[in-house]
Amino acid sequence: MQLFLDTADVAVLKALAATGLVDGVTTNPTLIAKTGRPMLEVIAEICGIVEGPVSAEVAATESEAMLAEGRKLAGVATNVVVKAPLTREGLIAVRQFAAEGIQTNVTLCFSAAQALLAAKAGANYISPFVGRLDDHGAVGMEVVSEIRAIYDNYDFDTEILAASIRNPGHVAAAAIAGADCATIPPEVFESLFKHPLTEKGLQTFLSDWAKTGQSIL
Ligand code: E4P
Repeated sequence: MQLFLDTADVAVLKALAATGLVDGVTTNPTLIAKTGRPMLEVIAEICGIVEGPVSAEVAATESEAMLAEGRKLAGVATNVVVKAPLTREGLIAVRQFAAEGIQTNVTLCFSAAQALLAAKAGANYISPFVGRLDDHGAVGMEVVSEIRAIYDNYDFDTEILAASIRNPGHVAAAAIAGADCATIPPEVFESLFKHPLTEKGLQTFLSDWAKTGQSIL
């Protein structure tokens, strides 16, 4: 399973990328706005830090304008994946991007039926928003499982990118549901390393080791 970082903060990305565990990055207009920096500059910098896919989202809502924006974004670096919303216009654009060999990530997916359309349009990634579905009273991970079943039934190559991840439990559940990737906010990514029993166990081992008076080196 690939783990992406859901951020446009270059400093935060650099720190986590140093672990070697960040396979790619996703951004969205909200995350870009938080940086206060020009989007193309931020995307170029991120693409210089990670070799894997970097999603950059179009802002237009009409397919021709999405195509123009997406072509410009794809020109920033070879690992840019153009992110388009799961709308009628978005999927028209995705179909054309596929014909042009431009990689796409279809975002704001909230149902398995929407994901079926995205796969038929030729999307490389589909992003079901798990946390926002949970907030809405649904069980977001069920949509991930449904998409997995549909894509397997028909051998679609579109990768399932579990998005709107809120906690480590979501990451594990996405892996169990068969998601190909998950995009994770930095604070949740950091928490994946941690468990109170790991901390407690390590403290015991360190204090017992100190009592031996030994040194390994
Ligand atoms: C996905 O690509 C989005 O950037 C992201 O996962 C949205 O998550 P949120 O619901 O925490 O904003």
